Amino acid sequence: MTPAFDLRLLSTPLPPVNLADCLRETGGVAADPQSPGTVYLGTWDHVQAAFSHPDLLREHPDHPVASAPISRVPSPGLIELDQTWPVFRDPPAHPPLRRALMAALTGALSPDRQERIAQAIQSHLRVLAAQSPFDAVELAHFVPSLAMTLLLGLDDPQEFQPLVVQMLRGDPTGFRTARLEVVDRLSDALSQQRQNRADTVLSRLDQALPDAPKATILSLALFLLTTGHGGVKDAIVNALWLAAQGLDGGALAQIRAPGAGAMAAFHETLRLLPPLRMVDRYVHGPIRLGPHQFNRGDRVYLMIGAALRDRLAFDDPDVFRLRPLAPKSLAFGLGPHACLGQHLAPWLWATTLGAVFAHGVPQQSGPTRWTEAPDESRLRALSLCLIAQP
Ligand code: HEM
Repeated sequence: MTPAFDLRLLSTPLPPVNLADCLRETGGVAADPQSPGTVYLGTWDHVQAAFSHPDLLREHPDHPVASAPISRVPSPGLIELDQTWPVFRDPPAHPPLRRALMAALTGALSPDRQERIAQAIQSHLRVLAAQSPFDAVELAHFVPSLAMTLLLGLDDPQEFQPLVVQMLRGDPTGFRTARLEVVDRLSDALSQQRQNRADTVLSRLDQALPDAPKATILSLALFLLTTGHGGVKDAIVNALWLAAQGLDGGALAQIRAPGAGAMAAFHETLRLLPPLRMVDRYVHGPIRLGPHQFNRGDRVYLMIGAALRDRLAFDDPDVFRLRPLAPKSLAFGLGPHACLGQHLAPWLWATTLGAVFAHGVPQQSGPTRWTEAPDESRLRALSLCLIAQP
């Protein structure tokens, strides 16, 4: 029988105990005593193997979308009714949609657009920093929504970007209204860009899927606006929190421009406080992982956060330290669903942190509030002052 483990350990942001150690004692696998058939994997080797296992998929084997044809993925009905994003799941249509998203994201970050995004971040920060103290979560919400707005080629970013934020953080009614508005604006932009082809993510998506209906392109654009937002936002806030606590040993204050040091600091922030601490999969097996046997239909949680603190993979895993970059990418997942924004995210992160530290070193000026969700390292509010350095 798979040993059980204390699930309360999952809901603290910086666990006082190392979860990978706890799980190592039980062979890297532990059962949820409350929910039969639910299992947690938390060591580096198990999590890494699980990400690429062909019989560990996002869908339950009996879920209808597991065998949905491409015509059902995704439709305006799904934009409206179903927030579970079939493209994020495992229908047979996933590989072509993934290739289209990848083609659209690759190369759309031209030097011109980089400059526009960096300038917008700097002016937003100037406004916030003038109100010292300011909420770092506000700043971090701005960055990915603004970047995707410009990358999609929306020509009214001042109006569109706040709608995106409202869609992402609004209450259910605000969310629905904002989402419909966002879809309308995207639809207008797509029509314009079809007439006057521009090198944008939206246009690239359209070209990569020439036979897809307009609704599919809009849904994919909406998916990009939604899916990468939280990761970038939390990576920025978590880094500012680490810096404000002095837990980074001053390393983050060295960031001025993207480069090797900045990338090591980025990956170390994600290692210590990964925005997504765990993802789930279903067993289509039966399968074995190490000595453990799993049955078809079992739900398996891949505990990225625990694996990134595994002492067999990292020296002093509970300490922030600039490390060689490999093995770095577990915070972005691996295998067939690995993150498609993992080249965009570090640039946005380093650009934002560079802008913050150009103003001063962050100092916390109020209590922090972490979410209690076990799957995210997420601050709800972080009040900061920036102390200018001589
Ligand atoms: C620091 C920032 C980010 C983190 C930590 C992050 C993390 C992740 C993780 C762990 C997954 C895999 C989920 C799973 O295996 O179930 C994922 C998937 C994904 N991410 Fe990110 N992400 C970030 C930023 C972004 C950005 C900026 C974008 C795009 C604009 C993006 C787009 C995606 C997409 C499209 C997928 C789904 C891929 C698929 O299912 O094939 N992400 N991300």
